[in-house]
Parts: sequence; structure tokens; C-alpha cells
Amino acid sequence: MNLPSLRKRPTYGVLLNALQALEVQPNSWSKSITVELSSTEQATVQRFLMSIIASDLEWLQDSTGLGGEILTALEQKELLFDLASRRVAERCGRSAMPEMTRTWTIPASSMLPEIKFDIREPPLTGDNLGLKTWGTSYVIAKKLENFGIHYLDHLFAKSDTSTPGNCRRSILHSTKILELGAGTGLVGIAAAAIWDADVYLTDLQDIAENLHFNVEKNAATVSEFGGHISSGVLDWREPDKAQTKMSSKKFSIILAADPLYDDDHPALVANVIQKFLYDDGDSRALVAIPMRDGTTRSLAGHLRKLMVSNGFLEDSSGEEICQDDWAPSDGPEVRLRWTIWKRDLPPHPKYEK
Ligand SMILES: C[S@@+](CC[C@H](N)C(=O)[O-])C[C@H]1O[C@@H](n2cnc3c(N)ncnc32)[C@H](O)[C@@H]1O
Repeated sequence: MNLPSLRKRPTYGVLLNALQALEVQPNSWSKSITVELSSTEQATVQRFLMSIIASDLEWLQDSTGLGGEILTALEQKELLFDLASRRVAERCGRSAMPEMTRTWTIPASSMLPEIKFDIREPPLTGDNLGLKTWGTSYVIAKKLENFGIHYLDHLFAKSDTSTPGNCRRSILHSTKILELGAGTGLVGIAAAAIWDADVYLTDLQDIAENLHFNVEKNAATVSEFGGHISSGVLDWREPDKAQTKMSSKKFSIILAADPLYDDDHPALVANVIQKFLYDDGDSRALVAIPMRDGTTRSLAGHLRKLMVSNGFLEDSSGEEICQDDWAPSDGPEVRLRWTIWKRDLPPHPKYEK
């Protein structure tokens, strides 16, 4: 398969042709391209699409479009980012589908019954990747109870052993939680129910309406488990603007599932964690990144360096396997690395046991 290399600075027309040729059509229309490609070729396509999304295509210049119209470099970039994002979305099997609501089930444990969340996903438009629920978020949602027991124990109240059979533990009321890049909201909504916690879910303006819808839709389930959820806009590029509207200005736990896909993201995410996490040794930031390819590995490495230079230590980390969202459903599995970060500071007296 011949895909243009971004290193050779291909023109707008060359990139446009390549992106158009990669369109995945429903099987009923014509033979789907994903059926024809081997898994190695699919991985090459994913890398190509990711490299366009992550690039600023700075070599593009104002020129004439295919229809004879003048297109500025910015318009060309927007069209190409939009197409690349659509191609990515198509490989998630979503683009041709109308709005859907999917039910995500968190299996029962010894302490909690099975919990189901209904999450709406509108049809994907443009590069609004937050309108889809990504594989990382489901893997992390299922691990939240385990994270609470093993790594966030100091933020939980002691269990009420006076009631026979009551071994469930709730997070301390002072433990406010912030989710960054929440998308459709699965992780934050699940955290509120599983940890009996108050979670504020945030994302970009374009994502906020659907996020709010999902928060409202699942609020009753969350409150059955004692939790509370709310949502709002937090654009990592304008954190001060968001902070003025928040009821809590600082948080004890920050969650971020699959937040890195652009060159700017590591610095933005590191900065937002620095700004919104309490300045004590008890607060924690849980960041989960699927290692899709060299681009995501390098973004993850960049975030790690920035966190360390901001004075954070890795409290714990681990790996899970998730289905790669950038591939078709029978595509390769991906290693998902989660890290729980803490500040290199003494604990706050209120949490000392
Ligand atoms: C790959 S999606 C993951 C969404 C969700 N956490 C999940 O796992 O399903 C990345 C998310 O980061 C959000 N995002 C990207 N840039 C952002 C920014 N500057 N400020 C806030 N959120 C941003 C996107 O809108 C999107 O919801």
C-alpha cells in the first residue's frame, strides 16, 4: 500500500487523495477496505491517520482546491484533519451509524452488585473524538474498584463494620474528583458510583453537551450508590477560564483516560494536573494511555518527563490489554499503560492513619 510519508511534506492534493481512498464504506455499498487489508496494513493506515492528526502540516500553503476554489493553508489543514478523524472514526465502526446508546456493564464484585451505565454516542462529526466511548475508558472503569482498594485506600473512610455484611467503603467526602477529557463520561460516571464519590467530568465545549446528557441520564444510578456527578467545560488550553466556574478549585483525584493524541497534549495535560491537583502528598492523578504506536508511546514518554519535572512521582503503574479503538473490532489488541501519580510532598494530616 502506498501512503504518502509526511516527512516528504506531501501537498494538500496528495494527502486529500490518500484520505479519500481510505474511506471505509458499509459492506452493503461496496467491498470494505478493512476486509482487504492485512493487520500489518491496517496498522500502517492507523499510523498514517494518527500522524496527520498529530501533525501541524506546516508546509501547506494557500492554493487552489480541486474545484478551482482558493483554499487557505488553514482551511486545507482543517479539511485534512477532519477527513483523517473521519477515517479513524470509520475504523471504529461508528461513522456510518446513527446516534446510539450503549450499555456498559461493570461486573459484580464481593462488595458491589453489577452496575450498568447507559452512554449516548452521537454520530461522529469532524474531529470530535470525545463523542465516542474509547476502549481505555471501559478497561479503566472496570478496574476502579481495584484502584480504590489498592492505591487510593488513604482517601477512603474506614468501613462501617457495625452493619453485618457491610464491607463497602466510601471515599471521604472531602475527596473531590475531576475527570479531564471525559468524552462520553464512562470513567467519571463509574468512579462516582463505584467509589461513592463526587465527580466533576469535563471536556471541550463541543463535547460538553453530550457529556452533560450522559451525566443526567446516569445520575439516578450514581446516586443509588451514594455518588454525585456534574459536568462542565474545561479546555486544557484555557484552564483559568474553567476554574472560575468550578465549585471546587482543587481536587484530590484527577482521572484522564486516553487523553493524548496531539503534540500539544502532554504539556497541556501535565499543566492542568499541576494546576488542579491539591498540593499535598495524598492527592493522586490516574492517567491511562493506550500504546497504539510510536506516536502515542512518544506522547506518553513526553508526559512522563513533564510530570517528573513538575515534582510528581509514580506511585504505582501497570498494564492492561485493550482492544485498539483505532482498528476494526477484530484488529490488534493494544497495551494500555496506567500510572497513578502523586506529588513528592508529605501527606496531609487529615489523611494520616
Ligand atoms: C481519545 S478521547 C478519550 C475520551 C474518553 N476519556 C474515553 O476514554 O472514552 C480524548 C478526549 O480528550 C479531549 N480533549 C482533547 N483536547 C482537549 C482539550 N484541549 N481540552 C479538553 N479536552 C480535550 C477530547 O475531546 C476527547 O474527549
